[in-house]
Amino acid sequence: MKHFFDFLISHAKIYGFIFPSSEIYGGLSAIYDYGPYGVELKNNIKEFWWKSMTQLHENIVGIDSSILMHSDVWKASGHVDKFNELLIDNKDSKKRYRPEILIQEYIEKKFLNDPEKKKEILSRLYKSLKKKDLADIKVLIDELNICDPVYKTKNWTKIRCFNMMFKMKNEKDLYLRPETAQGIFSNFQNIIKSNRMKIPFGIAQIGKSFRNEIFARKFIFRMREFEQMEMQFFILPEEEIKWYEYWKKIRLKWHLELNLGDEKYYKLCDHNHLAHYASAGSDIEFYFPFGFQEIEGIHSRRDFDLKNHEFLSKKKLRIFESERNYFPYVIETSLGLDRIFLAIFSSSLKKEKLKNGKTRTVLKLPYYLSPIKAAIFPLVKKDGLPEIAKKIFNDIKIHHRLVYDQKESIGKLYRRQDAIGTPFCFTVDYDTIKTDTVTMRNRDSMKQKRIHIKEISKIIEQETGLKKVLKNLSHFI
Ligand code: GAP
Repeated sequence: MKHFFDFLISHAKIYGFIFPSSEIYGGLSAIYDYGPYGVELKNNIKEFWWKSMTQLHENIVGIDSSILMHSDVWKASGHVDKFNELLIDNKDSKKRYRPEILIQEYIEKKFLNDPEKKKEILSRLYKSLKKKDLADIKVLIDELNICDPVYKTKNWTKIRCFNMMFKMKNEKDLYLRPETAQGIFSNFQNIIKSNRMKIPFGIAQIGKSFRNEIFARKFIFRMREFEQMEMQFFILPEEEIKWYEYWKKIRLKWHLELNLGDEKYYKLCDHNHLAHYASAGSDIEFYFPFGFQEIEGIHSRRDFDLKNHEFLSKKKLRIFESERNYFPYVIETSLGLDRIFLAIFSSSLKKEKLKNGKTRTVLKLPYYLSPIKAAIFPLVKKDGLPEIAKKIFNDIKIHHRLVYDQKESIGKLYRRQDAIGTPFCFTVDYDTIKTDTVTMRNRDSMKQKRIHIKEISKIIEQETGLKKVLKNLSHFI
């Protein structure tokens, strides 16, 4: 698996999906940049999520709030006091770790075939985490004889707490937001008034969040700057269970609609260790190249945020409705954009053995997410074929994300499009001059057939548009 993960990281770089940030200066830990195809794939994922939320649900609206917010926001939200993680240093390696992750990763390997032992240790860990019994977590590390994964020594410090928010230098108490949700809570009344929203309703947002992750590894899985796609759904308090169950079902359906393989999802594991704002929480876990890990959280935040914001801001954040005056409860769905990107990318990347004994690398992305929907090539760079191919490209480029390419031989052009996940390639050849037809090659089957030039745009639209998948989802809403 490590081999595959290294291959994935290298493929992402070579083909312009993801680059290490500031690479010319030696890079920056846990920060990455999205390249030309990466940004297209990311935008397509965003569009799928956004439309699934706002277009398919008539009572969900969107927002794009600022990253920097008044410092009281983070006091009211509890992030100043409670958004803490534990850390432990190894005095020899000078490396810093999160003790609970150190323990989890250790027992995952050590007790691979002993689920009972694993359960027993995890249960003790969660109990200690709940009680904030840092000393017992340290005892557990010692009892298990856990070494520094790099230096292999056990020269550990005590376990300490640290706040995960990035504080801006020179700006007293200004933080980079650690979740997008607070922009939604602080605009709650603005949205009700401007959009005449009535309970139940939701507010969706996609945006950057920042956390000072000390154990940031695994490529884009855990970063210090990342993107979240969150939705806060405001409900009557007595309908908490109903909507919690509803959103768990809808979010899982959204994931399964991606067709990454149902067996890759651990469906909705209840949180063992709830965030400070949550009264209930469920994770959707995904089988990444390094094992099952959280990809999305669905939480009930009840009235935690609105109540605290009303208290600190002294502005009414309740609902006044038919002689009732109450704080709505909130069900939140929170998906990491970079994590779903990694899930899709890692499930789609394949090495295939061909009939002729050669291998090809192909990125079998869902068509509607592919960065490029179709490529147009001339078979050769002469005899008027490039001109015809270019005309086809220019005629339909306003409708689809296409590429025109004539830089290499046709075989190499196909391989390149396979590697970036382009579903269809259309090649102009000598028959095109006589019959106005081109060959259409499919990425997955590699089969070719002839179609009329006039059909190209319609086929791309039908096969690579979002409509089909949105329609499937809409049956569940
Ligand atoms: N508003 C709730 C919230 O932020 P969370 O469980 O802390 O909840 C939600 O985060 C999702 O955000 C996670 O399930 C994960 O997909 C993503 N996420 C969290 N921290 C991340 C990080 N350091 N790097 C990448 N994605 C992250």
